[in-house]
Amino acid sequence: MSSFPTQAGGVPVLVLKEGSNRSRGREAQHGNINAAKIVAESIKSALGPKGMDKMLVDNFGDTTITSDGRTILDEMDIQHPAAKMLVEIAKTQDNEAGDGTTSVVIIAGELLTRAEELINKNIHPTVIIDGYSKTAEKALETLEEIALPVDLKTQDFLKKAATTSMGSKIVAEHKDYLADLTVKAMLAVAEKQDGVYKVDVDDVKVEKKTGASIRDTTLINGIVLDKEIVQSGMPKRIEKAKIALIDASLEIEKTELDSKLNIESPDMIEAFLNEEEKMLNDMTNKILASGANVVICQKGIDDMVQHFLSRKGAIAIRRAKKSDMEKLAKATGGKIVSSVDAITPSDLGHAALVEERKIADDKMTFIEGCKNPKAVTLLVRGATQRMTAEAERSIHDALCVIRDLIQEPKIVAGGGAPEMEMARILRKYAETMPGREQLAIRVFADALESIPVTLAENAGLDPVDILTELRNRHEKGEKWAGIEVLSGKIQDMSKANIYEPLSVKKQIIKSANEAASMILKIDDVIASGKMKGPPMPPGGMGGGMGGMGGMGGYPGAGEY
Ligand SMILES: Nc1ncnc2c1ncn2[C@@H]1O[C@H](COP(=O)(O)OP(=O)(O)OP(=O)(O)O)[C@@H](O)[C@H]1O
Ligand SMILES: [Mg+2]
Repeated sequence: MSSFPTQAGGVPVLVLKEGSNRSRGREAQHGNINAAKIVAESIKSALGPKGMDKMLVDNFGDTTITSDGRTILDEMDIQHPAAKMLVEIAKTQDNEAGDGTTSVVIIAGELLTRAEELINKNIHPTVIIDGYSKTAEKALETLEEIALPVDLKTQDFLKKAATTSMGSKIVAEHKDYLADLTVKAMLAVAEKQDGVYKVDVDDVKVEKKTGASIRDTTLINGIVLDKEIVQSGMPKRIEKAKIALIDASLEIEKTELDSKLNIESPDMIEAFLNEEEKMLNDMTNKILASGANVVICQKGIDDMVQHFLSRKGAIAIRRAKKSDMEKLAKATGGKIVSSVDAITPSDLGHAALVEERKIADDKMTFIEGCKNPKAVTLLVRGATQRMTAEAERSIHDALCVIRDLIQEPKIVAGGGAPEMEMARILRKYAETMPGREQLAIRVFADALESIPVTLAENAGLDPVDILTELRNRHEKGEKWAGIEVLSGKIQDMSKANIYEPLSVKKQIIKSANEAASMILKIDDVIASGKMKGPPMPPGGMGGGMGGMGGMGGYPGAGEY
């Protein structure tokens, strides 16, 4: 480790604070690459339908059980700066594509491992980075070429891609049922503008409630609020609801300044209270005059207003979340108003039914039967909270996959088929390149093959046999040959109905290349003494993760 102070003409020059740590050149690269490799290794076993799940325990003892790449990395509370970059890249993948977070980390880890082998052969990292970036471009081109366009009029491919995405999750048993619901939900909120579809995953509200099975998950053409009606005297159900959405408080506002009221006689108290009541009554009447029979308020509702509304047979809900108010507006076609003075009949939203129902032990309010709703709700059920939480994550992936396909209606196969085809084309491409550049292209191809290899390994199949046969089949022109891990057979993945959106695969290549290049570019790591983090518990995450504790110990290569 070459840390400061350094010698300049025999005099030590102190530039960094005492306790700072510095590593340069190969040592820095080695430390970073190793850290990234450990992260990739630790989530490898979660890939694919036969992948294992991870149980993650946080500082409070709360456990999460998941096979979702991003969630695993998030919960691992990683401290090593280079390893953190992989966590970031998984997040990017999740935000951009919604699926493929495990794959991106595995490929990035492989790209780095192989880059290190090249560095050890004295190939400069810049040459590798350039080679990788050219190769990524060629790989993306290949993906475009093998992708097939899909017709969105039939929901067939949307369903198949959603099923594939959920097939590698704990909820796989119910993948067909859930895929059906997610496709219906996304199509309900998709809008065509100037010939192009616009669709937002956030328009599908996912509400969780335990106490039933995943099979009892339902799609509601409207919004479900985890709220009860404010007053027990109000009706529990109103058909043909006309809904006022208000983001102002339905109370008498307190003055900002402290003020004193001198009351000299009992009459004055009464007059004062009467005046207050009159104001609240006026407020209620203004709302009711618009024709509203349901009031959903983002802020509080005064008892008096509740009482007046109840007397007129109206329903009210208070303290709805801002995000729910926006969804309610989209679902019911109503407008959110900020002042009751301005409310008009045209501001009201419409729903066939507003009803409070008891779900498990809680009361929830359903605003449903909305005509052409632009926001809908999936009410996710499951036996335990952990189950509903994992179901929500899996549904999120599926919703993203459907969005990706709606926005770019092109698919590729799963099961390692596109990775094998890219690898084949890349090896051919390498032959056209001069010596040194070939090396980076070849190792990129090897890194892509880690996907079918890992899928096979996780299914307990022999990865060497599978890889050899897949290479042969692709050489013979079977572009869609992959490994179907449920049956353990190598086959045309379109026959197995394993499809994935082209955009997810493209994003995997882009993100993995970006992460690998970013880490390879670093040749100097300076860790200030202050940054020392708490060391990981002995024998912590993933066996080898103990070595990743705190910047203080970083990047002692010997620790890994
Ligand atoms: N029946 C199947 N046979 C073979 N491979 C499959 C099958 N179903 C899915 N796959 C493959 O599994 C991989 C996806 O696995 P998984 O969902 O665990 O990881 P990810 O999508 O990379 O990350 P995450 O879903 O955690 O964000 C894809 O390569 C997909 O093609
Ligand atoms: Mg996935």
